[in-house]
Amino acid sequence: MGSRTVDCFEKPELIGEGTYGQVYRAKEIETGEIVALKKIRMDSEKEGFPITAIREIKILKELNHDNIIKLKEMVISPGPDNGIYMVFEYMDHDLTGLLDRPGIRFSVPQVKCYMRQLLTGVHYCHANRVLHRDIKSSNLLIDNNGNLKLADFGLSRRYLNDVNANLTNRVVTLWYRAPELLLGATKYGPAIDMWSVGCVFAELLMGKTIFPGKDEPQQLNLIFGLCGSPDEKNWPGVSKLPGYNTFKPEKPLERRVRETFWCVDKHALELLDRMLTLDPAKRISARDALDAEYFWADPLPCDPRSLPKYESSHEFDTKRKRQQQRLQDDAAKRQRLQHTSQHNRLLPPPQHSGQGYPQMRPGPFRHPQDGNPYGRYNHQNQAQGGGGGGRYANVPYPPPPLRGPPRGPSRFSGVDPRGGGGYGAGGPNYQHGDQYGAPGTRRGSNTMSRDQNQQYNRQH
Ligand SMILES: Nc1ncnc2c1ncn2[C@@H]1O[C@H](COP(=O)(O)OP(=O)(O)O)[C@@H](O)[C@H]1O
Ligand SMILES: [Mg+2]
Repeated sequence: MGSRTVDCFEKPELIGEGTYGQVYRAKEIETGEIVALKKIRMDSEKEGFPITAIREIKILKELNHDNIIKLKEMVISPGPDNGIYMVFEYMDHDLTGLLDRPGIRFSVPQVKCYMRQLLTGVHYCHANRVLHRDIKSSNLLIDNNGNLKLADFGLSRRYLNDVNANLTNRVVTLWYRAPELLLGATKYGPAIDMWSVGCVFAELLMGKTIFPGKDEPQQLNLIFGLCGSPDEKNWPGVSKLPGYNTFKPEKPLERRVRETFWCVDKHALELLDRMLTLDPAKRISARDALDAEYFWADPLPCDPRSLPKYESSHEFDTKRKRQQQRLQDDAAKRQRLQHTSQHNRLLPPPQHSGQGYPQMRPGPFRHPQDGNPYGRYNHQNQAQGGGGGGRYANVPYPPPPLRGPPRGPSRFSGVDPRGGGGYGAGGPNYQHGDQYGAPGTRRGSNTMSRDQNQQYNRQH
């Protein structure tokens, strides 16, 4: 535990509030550096320091990578507050906040840039035998230099091998939760994170959440509606999962990923299809995903530094805005009702807009006006090369060893998350006119509180 106190920081401003603590932006007095302070919530803990925080700190201290949030130190706040804070490097946005900015659209090279960083961070975790278990857009932090970092390791844990037994399946926020978890698997591995990555990828491509289920049965319905129903042919062993018979669709459903994402280019579709694969054994790994044609075909991922800079935006702001909107809507509704009773007229029942969750049925998404999202790119990056050529997996980069329990031989050959990649040198390689994302589409809400959205059993 650090010996410094929160008094080393000034001007705290609340930027995030999860079930497990508040997050503040603050300035370190001595250096002027802006940091994020995450307060560890102790009130619900009868047995001392929360296990989630212990896990998060332990794992974060062992991970050291450009695409993983850096835990700088721990500080305490003496006095009646008696709090403990984790001090992180400050990141201007989380992906939920960024995607919720009005009019935000990402170009193809931008999506590739974010996805490549996400996969690089996830690969690093998996190569070091850490499962994140809560990958979602609000846990992906982005700074104004275009760097994306994986954060919130409160649910993460180490795993020894793929047949890790008896882990809890109550992990991962519902909308990003893999089908094997929803069907009750307690033996699972890195593939659960890759499902979540697939959901984030689709969200980046389409501008909205693809599986906004209200509860577990509906979540599975949405998944099966898009990915088809699981059976012994497409997922050997699925019928042995505890929830299989309960949740199996009455009639077999066909897989419709390709039809649904028809507006997405073929390399993106190919990769998404392999991420949203029902059978976890066949789902693409982070390493193989980095090697996918998508990242090596023109237009290449843009240089993170070329990404546009925005005022900071976090999921918290989105929540606050939605809350304000709800209050305004309620007030307006009350006024309307008053008005109606005053005039004592018979009106048709009020039209509800179905707020809360965007009801997405499997079926064609709204699509970009330009059916070929690559159509108008200039391809200058091709000439700039991938900064070392070669594919990701061919670049030797053994992940730095972790301190801690023995890891055994890595299944991964290692990739170079820092250099050698396909970031084109120089300026932006996209035109702002070329965007993915449905015109005028806003992402669906994924701002459910964790209480609603996630039942945690953080013991396993
Ligand atoms: N280092 C950081 N820089 C900027 N914002 C952060 C940082 N860490 C967290 N946040 C913000 O706080 C929110 C909650 O933090 P998180 O670590 O995900 O905790 P929780 O367990 O409450 O979800 C994030 O979604 C993000 O908006
Ligand atoms: Mg979080």
